[in-house]
Amino acid sequence: MPHPYVLLSAAVSLDGYLDDTGPDRLLLSGPADFDRVDEVRASVDAILIGAGTIRADNPRLLVNSEARRAARVAAGKPPYPLKVTVSGSGELDPDANFWHTGGEKVVYTTDKGAERARESGLAADVVPLGPALDWRRLLEHLRSVYGVERLMVEGGGRIHTQLLQQGLADEVQLVLAPLFVGDPDAPRLFGPGAYQSGRLRLLETRRIEDVVLMRYEPTAPGTGLTATSADHHWLALACELAAECPPSRTAFSVGAVVVAADGTELARGHSREGGDPVVHAEEAALAKIAPDDPRLATATVYTSLEPCTHRASRPAPCARLILDAGVERVVTAWREPDTFVAGADGTGTLTAAGVDVVVLGEYEERATAPNHHLA
Ligand SMILES: NC(=O)c1ccc[n+]([C@@H]2O[C@H](COP(=O)([O-])OP(=O)(O)OC[C@H]3O[C@@H](n4cnc5c(N)ncnc54)[C@H](OP(=O)(O)O)[C@@H]3O)[C@@H](O)[C@H]2O)c1
Ligand SMILES: [Zn+2]
Repeated sequence: MPHPYVLLSAAVSLDGYLDDTGPDRLLLSGPADFDRVDEVRASVDAILIGAGTIRADNPRLLVNSEARRAARVAAGKPPYPLKVTVSGSGELDPDANFWHTGGEKVVYTTDKGAERARESGLAADVVPLGPALDWRRLLEHLRSVYGVERLMVEGGGRIHTQLLQQGLADEVQLVLAPLFVGDPDAPRLFGPGAYQSGRLRLLETRRIEDVVLMRYEPTAPGTGLTATSADHHWLALACELAAECPPSRTAFSVGAVVVAADGTELARGHSREGGDPVVHAEEAALAKIAPDDPRLATATVYTSLEPCTHRASRPAPCARLILDAGVERVVTAWREPDTFVAGADGTGTLTAAGVDVVVLGEYEERATAPNHHLA
């Protein structure tokens, strides 16, 4: 089931706090950054915050710019994004601003919480997700029932922490404010636990008055047969590399990237690179990694075309090289056609040897584009 694109947005102090412990919300950034947040809100289908943030800050979560609301309406969207909150207890104040401003509202909660939330007569849809809150179900529901394709998450810390730890965030937009909170009882942005986000990739830094916006993308590939947002990123890169191959009438143009479990790129390659007229993409990439590199066992090979199983030009086909390297996961865009080898089945060979192979067919067009002259 598809999920929306999940964008986490937060501002923190230099010592990593989201707020202080005072009764009023701590202002971490200034007008220019609030306007940037307004722009991001206008670009999404829904905004989510935790029940803790409703209690602490009583926010409205509006798109303040009239021009941005008008642009949404002109694009056939409602003027304000859907407002979403998450509560286990269902204890929500029906007088909070959240329910009385902006777009439509929905509360995701537990079966128990739903009873309570309904009793208090909230002006919102109340959706129970079972005995405990299940983030995957929540995201699937938002996509399938409310048509949410882009979700902005505005905190608090408990929400951000869970989404990153469960590998469900696609982007983090973090604003660092030049002040200290210094109170250990204040809420932190990210709590303890096991994060599935790998070493995040820095997409952008931007100075906004005296704060800095950092945009990150989590990178760690998930395990098994489920594709993560990182898989999409790396496979798209492999397809881009395929376009860099010197053209050939007798061989495919393929790109490959080898990525460690923590999201570090170990090597990349493409067909016929470096003046070698017969080298394959996966072969070229793997040759750049020491065979005893301990990261290979948990790495993923991304390749625009599935690894080959027969080749005349070299003794070992790429499926063999991958097995010899000890790599246990491959993500590819395109199953090999019968152009040069009848019945090629790299995916079958690898799967039979215990490798997880994920085929993301939506990238097939990008993978085949540099090979159209062979058809
Ligand atoms: N600087 C910023 O960018 C920013 C942004 C937002 C918030 N904040 C600050 O963050 C603070 C609030 O953060 P917070 O961590 O306390 O609250 P929060 O993350 O907003 O909300 C936590 C609440 O969400 C519900 N919840 C979350 N995960 C759940 C799960 N797995 N199962 C069931 N319920 C779940 C629970 O509601 P119930 O209690 O109803 O069960 C929980 O108490 C405030 O001080 C606010 O000012 C700062
Ligand atoms: Zn090959």
